[in-house]
Amino acid sequence: MSHIRGRFQKAVDKKVVEYTSSLPFDWRLYKHDIAGSIAHARMLARQGIISKSDSVIIVQGLESIEQELAQDEFRFKTELEDIHMAIEARLIEKTGEAGGKIHTARSRNDQIALDLRLYIREAISQTVDNVRELQRALVNLAEASMDVVMPGYTHLQPAQPILLAHHLLAYFEMLQRDVGRFNDCRKRADVMPLGSGALAGVTYNVDREFLARELGFSQVSQNSLDAVSDRDFVLEYEAAASTCMMHLSRLAEEIILWSSAGFDFIELDEAYATGSSIMPQKKNPDVAELIRGKTGRVYGNLMAFLTTMKALPLAYNRDLQEDKEGLFNTVDTLVASLDICTGLIATLKVNAEGAARAVEHGYILATDLADYLVGKGEAFRSAHEIVGRLISYAVKKGKSLPELSFAEYSSFSPLFGEDVYSITVDSSLAARDIIGGTAPKRVAQAVAAAKKTLGQGS
Ligand code: ARG
Repeated sequence: MSHIRGRFQKAVDKKVVEYTSSLPFDWRLYKHDIAGSIAHARMLARQGIISKSDSVIIVQGLESIEQELAQDEFRFKTELEDIHMAIEARLIEKTGEAGGKIHTARSRNDQIALDLRLYIREAISQTVDNVRELQRALVNLAEASMDVVMPGYTHLQPAQPILLAHHLLAYFEMLQRDVGRFNDCRKRADVMPLGSGALAGVTYNVDREFLARELGFSQVSQNSLDAVSDRDFVLEYEAAASTCMMHLSRLAEEIILWSSAGFDFIELDEAYATGSSIMPQKKNPDVAELIRGKTGRVYGNLMAFLTTMKALPLAYNRDLQEDKEGLFNTVDTLVASLDICTGLIATLKVNAEGAARAVEHGYILATDLADYLVGKGEAFRSAHEIVGRLISYAVKKGKSLPELSFAEYSSFSPLFGEDVYSITVDSSLAARDIIGGTAPKRVAQAVAAAKKTLGQGS
């Protein structure tokens, strides 16, 4: 750190170095840092701020440092505070005076703001790719199980019959909104902050538009104070990631329930299940449990950094360094959870009989019976009342709906006709023939639409 210690007579206490260093985690930004520095060096030469030959030396130096880093040959000096200083120090070591010019018209404050934006752009692409893979797995499973009927639940009580495919496509929709949120976040991250300097803007004739083009940004930041201290894009990613993890956690919870003996709708693949160290009969959904469990840390990272940002005066404050560990952890957790969840869905086996058995249970056609009476002229509220009494009677008699005699039906309403026996699970499904409904033909359309969204055609 000697090259920025000009004003000091004393070295920094070792404990302080350790406490303040971001190098143990921000080394991950090295590619982004080098890409930013290369663009900066080119811009400086174009503008005549440094010579063309210095810029060539700098760019070559940075490229060779990138190789050292990629090949694990870079020696990290723990006394250097962060990745920016580590790379700059090495550049000076390699190129001497030329390297000493890279930090002209720049501050680590606009430098880190840039690096993080470059990082998050990449993270968003990776995240969206993985969301798409999970959507693909869900749609494939939906398509392969179009004939599987299961109970739809409210309050986790069997409510009405639905297609398993319909249920799976509900998650497709959630993930579709997640993609929208990540793409929105990308728009706000798409702003180039270099030129803001430490806080007030730089005094050199820099070409910010050129930098934006070189680095693939569509806009430059409009206020230097904001640009060096804005981390909204980090929070937006973390918020979108929290919502996405919430979706994964809900799906994980269903997988846990469905694979339990009580439900028995699916069987997990052995490659995605674990055994018990004591109970040999067990096949445990630990993978799904961990997806559910890891959701906590993703929420936590969002709350932690919102709390860090609260009450920070303009402009840069070192508190901002706390943005990185949580963000990296969130990106790693979400990207891995999406990937694992995709494998879980792609390999599980559906137990159609188990799901069908659950549909037989619990008077699941009661709503259809009420709708039937409405069709015969009864007001819905009284139809609901009549069917309620009929179900209570059937429960007492220990009979299912098809087991009730016509006389029994008739004793509850004169509107019942023999056609009451044509109310079946299939008729119940087919009747929900509206956009967004579970009628098999609507679900088939939804599968086709989902495939089109994923670019798979029909
Ligand atoms: N390591 C710092 C961070 O992550 C880089 C910026 C340091 N700037 C400063 N003025 N100390 O935020």
